[in-house]
Amino acid sequence: MNMHALLPDVSAFLDNVQGLRIGAEKIETAEHLDVENPSTQGLIARVARAGAREIDLAVATARAALTGPWGALTPHDRGQLIWRLGDAIEENKAIFGQLDALDNGKPFHIARDVDAVYSARHFRYFAGWPSKIEGRTIPVSVPGRMNYTKVEPVGVCGLITPWNYPTLMVAWKLAPALAAGNTVVLKPAEQTPLSALFLADLALKVGFPPGVLNVVPGLGMDAGAALAAHPGVDKVGFTGSTETGRRIVEASVGNLKKVSLELGGKAANIIFADADLKRAIPGAFWALFGNNGQSCTAGARLFVHRSIRDDVVRELAKMAEGLSVGPGMELKAHDLGPVVSAAQMTKVLGYIDQGTAAGAQCMTGGARQGETGYFVAPTVLDNVADDMVIAREEIFGPVLSVLPFDEEDEVLARANDTEFGLAAGCWTQDVSRCLRMADGLKAGTIWTNTWGDTDPASPFGGMKQSGYGREMGGEAIALYSQTKSVWLG
Ligand code: NAI
Ligand code: MG
Repeated sequence: MNMHALLPDVSAFLDNVQGLRIGAEKIETAEHLDVENPSTQGLIARVARAGAREIDLAVATARAALTGPWGALTPHDRGQLIWRLGDAIEENKAIFGQLDALDNGKPFHIARDVDAVYSARHFRYFAGWPSKIEGRTIPVSVPGRMNYTKVEPVGVCGLITPWNYPTLMVAWKLAPALAAGNTVVLKPAEQTPLSALFLADLALKVGFPPGVLNVVPGLGMDAGAALAAHPGVDKVGFTGSTETGRRIVEASVGNLKKVSLELGGKAANIIFADADLKRAIPGAFWALFGNNGQSCTAGARLFVHRSIRDDVVRELAKMAEGLSVGPGMELKAHDLGPVVSAAQMTKVLGYIDQGTAAGAQCMTGGARQGETGYFVAPTVLDNVADDMVIAREEIFGPVLSVLPFDEEDEVLARANDTEFGLAAGCWTQDVSRCLRMADGLKAGTIWTNTWGDTDPASPFGGMKQSGYGREMGGEAIALYSQTKSVWLG
């Protein structure tokens, strides 16, 4: 196999990766995380692993930076630093791309040209905000008083991120947290800590005061739990599973820290009989197979009108068979890489077996691909019923379930019959129906005749058990701010 050579900067970084990034220091730890390449099952690096003691140190360091040099910066200067970080990410997009391709497994060209580039844009969008976070003067009815509001940072933010988009999920939280004036302790996913560590080094290089961004890889159950429970943390921003989201809420009660959660999904994607199938079929295909199904917005329940269902399923299976699947660092620009870990592969294959045992029909895929690396063959399951476990739980892998339907009212009710509510959408040439579905679907994002678009200016988040709070846009600034009401007598 022909692999991309490691960039000299990536080799140099991996040689010096050791240490938690706390303040300007690299702090060694007794225990370590073995970072595995899911494409090869080889060891990429052994990185420092934070426990409760190191979380204490990171939180104290973030607190000192908040009341120190960072808090003293003007909005202009804060915005300029955030812009510079965006530029630096884009200048180093090949490094970010290789790091994410190594520990997540996703194709290098996608990690570089999509994940890294969109991360850079996210920082640039939020770089404009610091000078535009305004309070109000309120016309209170108390004689002789003036009242105004100030919008202030929440304080020290603990950011806990997942492994599916290692750089981008950090960007989504870190950019608004910094723009609103907070300092951060970031715990990246244990499977994919490399790009977050590189980002910490880059932030110092572009001029962020030490302590504004601290990066502390570790396991969820110790570093993550310690951060979520820490009395010195004012807010936790989390993306990951609904199960872990619940634990984070429980851990937050001690000091009643603010929490925002972007959790799992089981998005319904509906193809009506009048859809433009030339767009709807590839759209629905990539809605699930994009990022190998490892997206919270994956269009996992594909409802297809019974009259077109056979044609659609045949086409989807053909497209799945045409996908190029291979190691993230292979020179050949693959469409998909492996799933992130052995545990994830076992879980995904288990769901496939459970689905076929329950009566779903496997049209293609259905098994591990190859013997090395955690590759799951792109899988299309037809005849999936609403009450099957595979139609209710998040699979988070390359498994597309097709569910036939007959009527609009029926499919709307079935689409909403889920505990999740992150995204949903439909394909139809009837604009009135688009609007009816946008009204009726219970999800934080609705895509009609498209799927997967996001933009740093447009709010993103979940209804129901997909979480609370909206990331992106002005709503993300609000998520990382608090309002003070000032009275003058
Ligand atoms: P997870 O939700 O457990 O992990 C996400 C992050 O939370 C990681 O940084 C992890 O270290 C941390 N974490 C875990 N337990 C914690 C705790 N008790 N306190 C604080 N932080 C904790 O997700 P996991 O176990 O990696 O994947 C399991 C499933 O979760 C996936 O199969 C998928 O269904 C879902 N998931 C959803 C994501 C999304 O984007 N909504 C992203 C990743 C996973
Ligand atoms: Mg977990």
